[in-house]
Amino acid sequence: MSEAKRIDGKANAAALRDRLTAAVRDLKDAHRLDPGLAVVLVGEDPASQIYVRNKVAQCADVGMESLEFRRTVDISQAELLTLIEGLNDRDDVHGILVQLPLPAHIDPMAVLAAIDPAKDVDGFHVINAGRLSTGQDCLVPCTPAGCMILIKGVLGDDLSGLDAVVVGRSNIVGKPMAQLLLRENCTVTVAHSRTRDLPEACRRADILVAAVGRPRMIGAGFIKPGATVIDVGMNRIDAPDKGPGKTRLVGDVDFPAALRVAGAITPVPGGVGPMTIASLLRNTLLAACRQKGVEAPEI
Ligand code: GUN
Repeated sequence: MSEAKRIDGKANAAALRDRLTAAVRDLKDAHRLDPGLAVVLVGEDPASQIYVRNKVAQCADVGMESLEFRRTVDISQAELLTLIEGLNDRDDVHGILVQLPLPAHIDPMAVLAAIDPAKDVDGFHVINAGRLSTGQDCLVPCTPAGCMILIKGVLGDDLSGLDAVVVGRSNIVGKPMAQLLLRENCTVTVAHSRTRDLPEACRRADILVAAVGRPRMIGAGFIKPGATVIDVGMNRIDAPDKGPGKTRLVGDVDFPAALRVAGAITPVPGGVGPMTIASLLRNTLLAACRQKGVEAPEI
């Protein structure tokens, strides 16, 4: 069997950003609507700082406004909630993103619940999660939304009747991913650490989405020949072969092994990762349109 197609997340994300750039320009010209994203970062977590820097830079790339609110790690929960209430009230802010994780003294659920659901561009508010699971219009979490674009890029728009297995049941990826696949008429299994025979469950999948956070856990024996494999894992592991103290980023899937069995597969890095921020920008644009009563463009 020939090697799997490598799904190019970078190219897909760049194409989405191009469509967004054109749509943002049209909204400004035709409706004087300037979509704005507020990003809140608490503390000094190095990975979060990189994510936030990338989010702000990519807003600028597509011509979107972004506002950054950095707060020190000792901010109280009450102060953070006050900041969010202020952003809920601002007309120039259409999307609000609070970078996670938050310091231990702050309850992330309380913070997410304080965001106006109409501005919840992460799609983490229970109102948006509930709307997704009941088939209503909502803001969809960015990583699963990006995965769907990649899946449809391989398989086309009609996923009806396909067997999909999502490994991982997080609120951020696993659960919303399962809902999106269900909405597309897939037969969906959500597998997790307690699933009895995980390789056997995964081998049923025409679409296999791995979001467990365990480096290279999904081997060739988990994959049905020809399956579309989406690797959401971003695991940093030691890489002594690159030199002392060096690390590398790997997914949840054993990529070289999977290449020999799958039909198509996302690499790590360069697969799902680039799609997440592009989807965040898309959500901000959609949120702005809905708040202003402007018909959202198809993107
Ligand atoms: N931290 C890691 N991933 C995410 C994400 O998708 N959204 C937010 N707000 N924080 C994160």
